[in-house]
Amino acid sequence: MRNYMLECSGLTKTYLSTDPPTQVLHGIDLSVEEGEFLVIMGASGSGKSTLLYSISGMDRPTSGSVHLEGHDVTSLDDAAMSKVRLTRMGFVFQQAYFLSNLNIRDNVLLPALKANPKQSETVVSRVDALLDRFGIGHIKHHGITEVSGGQLQRASICRALAGEPAIVFADEPTGALNSSMTAEVMDALTGVHDDGRTIVMVTHDPACAARADRVVYLRDGLLVDSRSLGRWTRSAAVQREDDVLAWLRSLGF
Ligand SMILES: Nc1ncnc2c1ncn2[C@@H]1O[C@H](COP(=O)(O)OP(=O)(O)O)[C@@H](O)[C@H]1O
Ligand SMILES: [Mg+2]
Repeated sequence: MRNYMLECSGLTKTYLSTDPPTQVLHGIDLSVEEGEFLVIMGASGSGKSTLLYSISGMDRPTSGSVHLEGHDVTSLDDAAMSKVRLTRMGFVFQQAYFLSNLNIRDNVLLPALKANPKQSETVVSRVDALLDRFGIGHIKHHGITEVSGGQLQRASICRALAGEPAIVFADEPTGALNSSMTAEVMDALTGVHDDGRTIVMVTHDPACAARADRVVYLRDGLLVDSRSLGRWTRSAAVQREDDVLAWLRSLGF
């Protein structure tokens, strides 16, 4: 039997705030294995962010179920869901959403300290190790406007990992970066994957998608195709990107 980190079944999402209501997800079945790096692609407006938010409890699906580590998280109340998010999930967004009055290190520490107030020493030493590992230990006392976009995103990855999550969700983490910063951030996420962490990432960028074990394609709120790439290696990077590009073209991306 396979060990699924995440299993979604029959997920739908309808936004009721619009008139008429907007159905964005039309029944998504998706399973992610423990340790898998899954990428979600699709045209702008196809529902990628909505799917990621519905899977990760940032928003509630209208129907369907999500199991994380075998537990049904869709039936949890808001407080229990928040706890699961804080302790089992890490998030990386296009923007870091750091507080401007705190330095890099304190921003990275904040959620993990909130989740583990009694283990602050452990959390601080874990965060310092993460900052060093991702090459930003030397700027941890800098303000958030004093570092590059790539450094900020590597700090967001450290923040996402600080609570030792089971799964990391990333929504266009390189969407606001130039190509060299994108490579920095993808190297960091590849390292996270190498540690055995499960990752679900939305991206527009075929080169970023080529890092994944598997890519799924969302069209108008339905998963219409998927492509297994196997494990990423640097020597196969160009060939994998070509493979993803050809696949995307066949889907009309
Ligand atoms: N809070 C919301 N209320 C109403 N419609 C929304 C909301 N969020 C997203 N949508 C609509 O849902 C569709 C999918 O959006 P989104 O999930 O952000 O797509 P993607 O991330 O693929 O670009 C879009 O048509 C968008 O306008
Ligand atoms: Mg989006």
